[in-house]
Amino acid sequence: MRIGVVGLGYVGLPLAVAFCEAGQEVVGVDTDPRVVEALARGESHVEDVPADALRAVAERFEASTRYAELAKVDAVVVAVPTPLTRNREPDLGPLVAAATALAGVLQKGQLVVLESTTYPGTTRERFVPLLEESLLAAGKDFFAAFSPERTDPGRTDFTLRTTPKIVGGLSDECLRRAVELYELVCDDVVAVSTPEAAELSKLLENVFRSVNIALVNELAILCDRMGIDIWEVVEAAATKPYGFMSFKPGPGMGGHCLPVDPFYLAWRAREFDTQTEFIELAGEVNQRMPYFCAEKIARALNDHAKPVRGSHVAIVGVSYKPGVGDLRESPALKIMRLLREQGAEVTYYDAYVPQLTELGLRSEWPEEADCTVIVTAHPDLDVERIVRESALVVDFRGVTRGIEAPNLVRL
Ligand SMILES: NC(=O)c1ccc[n+]([C@@H]2O[C@H](COP(=O)([O-])OP(=O)(O)OC[C@H]3O[C@@H](n4cnc5c(N)ncnc54)[C@H](O)[C@@H]3O)[C@@H](O)[C@H]2O)c1
Repeated sequence: MRIGVVGLGYVGLPLAVAFCEAGQEVVGVDTDPRVVEALARGESHVEDVPADALRAVAERFEASTRYAELAKVDAVVVAVPTPLTRNREPDLGPLVAAATALAGVLQKGQLVVLESTTYPGTTRERFVPLLEESLLAAGKDFFAAFSPERTDPGRTDFTLRTTPKIVGGLSDECLRRAVELYELVCDDVVAVSTPEAAELSKLLENVFRSVNIALVNELAILCDRMGIDIWEVVEAAATKPYGFMSFKPGPGMGGHCLPVDPFYLAWRAREFDTQTEFIELAGEVNQRMPYFCAEKIARALNDHAKPVRGSHVAIVGVSYKPGVGDLRESPALKIMRLLREQGAEVTYYDAYVPQLTELGLRSEWPEEADCTVIVTAHPDLDVERIVRESALVVDFRGVTRGIEAPNLVRL
């Protein structure tokens, strides 16, 4: 098969490479010329796709900024961003732009699958009508489906192949073709009855995480007041072999998905006279965490007879999660801004993020800081060295558990 992938980011690029590895020819289209040029040089901007993997499939993979290249493929998968507007409403700009451009080159018999996370109804009501501006009819001349992406950047225990893939088609034939496509790269393809069910299943997965993280974060704040170790509590509860799932507290949610996706659902629900209060409350609790963390750092400094103003605070780990350099919605950035506003001199260390242009900083090992704060603990982080060499350590990830030291404060 010849397959097109629109949007070569965290989702699109690994998928494109997986199709190539399964022996298919892939044309990737991205509107960002820097992405396309780097890929043409064999350089990958996505941690989960090593340059070696890209080079190994170079003969079957072509990246371009031109949608016209997609006229020659059998199926197109769309994985463009679905962010929020400044008012925290769904921003379907990239999705609309992609569908409009695709309509200009759409061919009879092609299958188009949307993978971008979005509210139920997007595929049928927004995406497909734009494709039909090609004057081809969905379900008859071309085929359309929705299949949510389950990429978890940095994860190695489950891969695209071993993670079941959900697919909902606009018609039985659309579904059949989409299942056939994904069976090339996934061991288990799960068919659902409609694109809406597929769209909502993805949101349920993310809302589930958001709500549970909020719950444990709220408990962490309570534990802070009560002088109880939240990590011990979660670990103890997790010994129950059924009916409990362990979620860890932390400095707040980051990334492209968890802080964003629940708003897509809440927005859509309002159209149906329904308030998703539970979901919105979880978002609020999680958004409050960086403020709580900044306050906890101030308290820790105070206990060492130091004010925030003029103190050197070194942040360790600024990406939103371990093992990746992704800064989107990262709570570390929020904490750094809050500390700067209070007059702290803030530096950072992150092996995955060499520089933070917006803050005018470069990564440097935390030396001679008044307080070193572990916000994201990458897998190779030498936690013991940090505790040994720092005057004061605040740990928001629980990675110092097991270390006893007078200069250590944990969430
Ligand atoms: N990153 C994740 O972990 C993850 C996981 C599951 C689902 N998703 C969802 O997948 C979608 C894509 O996310 P991502 O993380 O890969 O985003 P990304 O920002 O890493 O990549 C998107 C790419 O699309 C390109 N693009 C933007 N508009 C375009 C257009 N009109 N035509 C062609 N290319 C265009 C951008 O230049 C970028 O390279 C989102 O809906 C996201 O919510 C992401």
